[in-house]
Amino acid sequence: MATITYQGLEVLYTHQQIATRVAEMGAQITRDMNCEKLVMVGVLKGAAIFLSDLARAVQVDTTFDFVAVSSYGKGQRSSGAVKLIKDLDEPIEGKNVLIVEDILDTGLTLAYLRKIFLQHHPRSLRIATLLDKPSRRIEKIDADYVGFSIPNLFVIGYGMDYAERYRNLPEICLMSADHPE
Ligand code: IMP
Ligand code: MG
Repeated sequence: MATITYQGLEVLYTHQQIATRVAEMGAQITRDMNCEKLVMVGVLKGAAIFLSDLARAVQVDTTFDFVAVSSYGKGQRSSGAVKLIKDLDEPIEGKNVLIVEDILDTGLTLAYLRKIFLQHHPRSLRIATLLDKPSRRIEKIDADYVGFSIPNLFVIGYGMDYAERYRNLPEICLMSADHPE
């Protein structure tokens, strides 16, 4: 039987399942970094919670930066256009950069960020996403680190929102089409 949260939402991944997977991702990133320094760039706001857990799971000399892009607005549908709302604070030239994203969906956001970051000539550029919805892809892009690959479902919690709500849920839950707002 599905686990249900206090808000009546169906749980897709529990906090424990997320923690286990994030620890595995952190260990893999630690190995791949080979004692080099890392800049983790979180995509606001959805990736904030994932970044805070992932950063503590990597044993690497790490700094943070954040960017913000326009994305879903108030509903479940993307406008299609991606725009940078908040740029990097620090130059990334010559640095090992890991973009940290909550969910790779159509790929428009990450394809755009990858393009503009590469123009700054980082030493390396990798992508970590907690969730991947490969069936929804419009832009050809893959993440280097994927937490969970999921079908075409709209999810909320652990940083992810529906109209800015539910980001603080510790679990990843399903947003059903008939859920009362
Ligand atoms: P993309 O540009 O279509 O790959 O998606 C970019 C952004 O859309 C993600 O970073 C999320 O913020 C948002 N998004 C996509 N799918 C979902 C979802 O199922 N729940 C909440 N946000 C989503
Ligand atoms: Mg996002």
